Amino acid sequence: MNSKLSSIFIFCILILLAGCNPTDQISYEERGLIAEYAMVVSAREEASKIGLLMMQQGGNAFDAMVATELALAVAYPFAGNLGGGGFMVYRLADGKSGTIDYRERAPMAAHRDMYLDENGEVIPGLSTMGALAVGIPGTIAGVFEVHRKLGSLPIEDILAPVIELAEKGVVVTEKQAQRLAGYRESIVKVSGENTFFAQVFDENDTIKYAALAETLRRISRNGSDEFYKGETARRLVKFLQEKGGIITLEDLSAYEAQWRDPIQFSYKDINIISMAPPSSGGVTLSQILGMIEEFDLKSVGHNSPDYIQVLTEAERRAYADRNYYLGDPDFVQVPVEVLLDKAYLKNRISNFNFDQATLSSDVSHGHIQFIESEETTHYSIIDQFGNAAAVTTTLNGAYGSKLYCDDLGFFLNNEMDDFSAKTGVPNMFGLIGADANAIAPGKRMLSSMTPTIVEKNGELLMVVGTPGGSTIITSVLQTILNVAEFEMTMQQAVDAPRFHHQWLPDHINFEPEGFTKATLEKLKSKGYNTNEGYTPILGKVDAILVLPNGKLEGGADKRGDDKAIGF
Ligand code: DON
Repeated sequence: MNSKLSSIFIFCILILLAGCNPTDQISYEERGLIAEYAMVVSAREEASKIGLLMMQQGGNAFDAMVATELALAVAYPFAGNLGGGGFMVYRLADGKSGTIDYRERAPMAAHRDMYLDENGEVIPGLSTMGALAVGIPGTIAGVFEVHRKLGSLPIEDILAPVIELAEKGVVVTEKQAQRLAGYRESIVKVSGENTFFAQVFDENDTIKYAALAETLRRISRNGSDEFYKGETARRLVKFLQEKGGIITLEDLSAYEAQWRDPIQFSYKDINIISMAPPSSGGVTLSQILGMIEEFDLKSVGHNSPDYIQVLTEAERRAYADRNYYLGDPDFVQVPVEVLLDKAYLKNRISNFNFDQATLSSDVSHGHIQFIESEETTHYSIIDQFGNAAAVTTTLNGAYGSKLYCDDLGFFLNNEMDDFSAKTGVPNMFGLIGADANAIAPGKRMLSSMTPTIVEKNGELLMVVGTPGGSTIITSVLQTILNVAEFEMTMQQAVDAPRFHHQWLPDHINFEPEGFTKATLEKLKSKGYNTNEGYTPILGKVDAILVLPNGKLEGGADKRGDDKAIGF
């Protein structure tokens, strides 16, 4: 065969092969739930179902957001809330994107040293347990603002199934029974022995939330003002003040959710849209990805020692910047542009080499202890119109401040602990803060929540996010890399073992049983400290991937009771 003939022959073979293997033919092995048009992935099946119901009734992703958020407040009181706050990143079908910040704020009577004793030392527990730990809740303002701007169904229709869920009750899962048992003592300590959650709830019991149903019914009738200015506001303030809190009616009535521009940046061939300050999520994620972009991660191999090293070194440097520079942009100047500058990031990582770990003390210093991550919750939504919402919401710790308002039926957050109570002293996630994140009246505390949307070739690719305190950013990072670099399915990407470094303390946390001894030994030989004792679960990611054929794949993290539902 001459060369012209042979190239025609090869061309024909390629055409034939392409015919046998059309590009929309996708292997569904090891994938999560597949849906044609719309999907919700959240921490509880009951919440995913109610979210999806909105879209089945012709509503959009934002109607589903309101429904899912409030259904989580019922079905997942561990983190779902009326007494907390959160962030949403969205992308409309036409490609426009934005974010809303419904983060808690410090009350007007709060002050910089409010958690310090007369010697200037942090008083343990004051910013984490009980009424003084509570920031002004933002959730109701957030969902009503999302509904006003982007929703389409009547609010009463959205709240009706949520109220019904609260009345009929929610069945306790095995994991929930364990959590309730684990936290019962501290809930009783803060909220008293007659509080609702002093009762023992076993697996398969049904918990009915009558007080919460009543509160939601008033909110459905009277709107957001019910929570911030109305009867609910008055009852909440009375309760908080009786418990020694400082939130006033003026604090509640002044609360507003804020629309903010997202942090947007590219990494290789994908475009990432994430949360701006007062969350550190978008900035820190962008810094880490900016620092690792020049490495050929695919060839070093997923979770190999070299891979762990590259990510760890970028994380170390990015968290050092986070802790120093980031805070509420309404109060402090955050140098976002410089922090995201590719030349700055290249320079920041330039002193790393594969032979030896950089010491965090050479990047900065401090002596702290890593404390187990608590709870938050993330959900991801795509609707049948092509709109997408990534939402992370939280009470901060598990059951927040452990302060349960029996009258109104919900837990209050302990978000004040996300401030830096004292420069250089770690908060419950071991994060050290500086002036930028000092307490001030009306200020929002710095967050790590990272609801994120990924685009490829100008099209929606992924909706992703997770709880996990300081480990949120690195869990989102690894999930994105698992798909973008290692071509995992959404479910594989969510389930893959994760690791985490946050500058201080200077060690890498590894998920239990996810990494070989040989990998850990190799890292140790290069000077890395590894946490091989008790290691908390790192994140609990709920995500959706748009497949090349347009179908949706859900990734509901195996680490929880999380559930993808779609149609
Ligand atoms: O905003 C933050 O960064 C924390 N309040 C989040 C807390 C959290 O993720 C707890 N979950 N594991």
